[in-house]
Amino acid sequence: MIKVATIIGARPQIIKAAAISRAINTLFRDCIAEVIIHTGQHYDEEMSEVFFKELGIPRPHYNLNTRSASPAQQVSQMMNGIEEILLKEKPQAVILYGDTNSTLAGSLTSSGLNIPVIHIEAGLRSYNKSMPEEINRIVCDHVSTLLFVPTRQGVENLMKEGFSAQALPPFNKNQPGVFHCGDIMYDNSLYFSSLSGKRTTIIERMQLEEGKYVLSTIHRGYNTDVPERLSSLFRALCGIASETNTKILLPLHPRTSKMMESSLEKDLLQRIRENPLIIITKPVSFLEMIELEKNAMLIMTDSGGVQKEAYFFGKPCIILRSETEWVELVENGNAVIADADERKIMEAFKHFRNIKGLGYPPIYGDGHAAEFICNEIVRNFSGKP
Ligand code: UD1
Ligand code: UDP
Repeated sequence: MIKVATIIGARPQIIKAAAISRAINTLFRDCIAEVIIHTGQHYDEEMSEVFFKELGIPRPHYNLNTRSASPAQQVSQMMNGIEEILLKEKPQAVILYGDTNSTLAGSLTSSGLNIPVIHIEAGLRSYNKSMPEEINRIVCDHVSTLLFVPTRQGVENLMKEGFSAQALPPFNKNQPGVFHCGDIMYDNSLYFSSLSGKRTTIIERMQLEEGKYVLSTIHRGYNTDVPERLSSLFRALCGIASETNTKILLPLHPRTSKMMESSLEKDLLQRIRENPLIIITKPVSFLEMIELEKNAMLIMTDSGGVQKEAYFFGKPCIILRSETEWVELVENGNAVIADADERKIMEAFKHFRNIKGLGYPPIYGDGHAAEFICNEIVRNFSGKP
């Protein structure tokens, strides 16, 4: 039996972990045992617990309850907690997802203890080092033993940084293995979209009509914490709602809810509150989110995961950032980068409203990335040739 420790903390990591846990618990239960460590980075019911209840992820064996703090305090507290658990559990490898502070803490601690790191969603780059996520993912990739890359572009990014796709096993952090495996979020979207319609009522509850509303999420620090950007984004939403008579649903990250109150101009806040076409809710569950994505006319987001889910469900996307790691979306014409620019957002909205028949070729794998990853874990850590 191969013992792996999985470290999760933020919403998207909990959702991603569902794909691997599902593969382990169905196809690999005789050969992989998983110990789950939740750092506690996300802790509100609707940012964490809801996903354990809904997605069939095993309960975390440990929760470090680190909660929110400055980046240095958050990461150092996580590292202390993770170190203690890894020393006790002695896993053969640690699985990390994406690019959050939980990923950074997990990668530094595991590497410090010489426990091999398996990085899922490796190789992505925004080439914008002012994002903490860019630093986190670079650090994690460079201490990893197995790197599972969702896209071809991700593999190319790694090659530019000196990784080799030709390296041969046995792999270690000086000679890592790079695998282009597809996207486990695509696995999840396929799997859970067959359930979301039956198990949720959000479309009726929110009184939404299929294809007639915009779904939007905003949470990136550079959007929430820069008042001019946050104002510009909300002015754009108000403009679209009022000028085009379109409903906009915003399941809002707690970070954005807090910053809206403290940074938006009073008259803008009032315009948003009084506009019946702008519906702000708490974050929704993953099954609800899938239903909202499947039925939307268009999606506007600064989220990495939501950009891709827009693609999985054949919806155009306006990216509320100045760049994206998921460059294929833009190259294929399925997404437009509009930043936090009111004019560009409105132009992108009009562009997509008038365009029909966008193609969505299958660039994120075949929906079996989790099985591929588990097979490689077995091949590399079973001790058998
Ligand atoms: C983190 C990740 C980001 C990811 C996002 C997913 C880092 C550096 N960033 O950003 O890459 O896209 O998660 O959602 O790790 N808060 C709550 N309740 C919660 C969680 C957060 O109120 O359950 C509030 C707190 O005020 C906190 C703020 O949100 O200070 C930011 O939370 P944090 O986890 O630091 O970063 P995210 O913006 O969520
Ligand atoms: N998500 C969700 N409920 C919400 C908003 C997002 O379940 O209210 C899901 C979304 O479908 C995607 C993931 O959370 O699978 C993306 O997480 P987030 O946007 O927080 O982070 P990012 O992907 O940008 O790191």
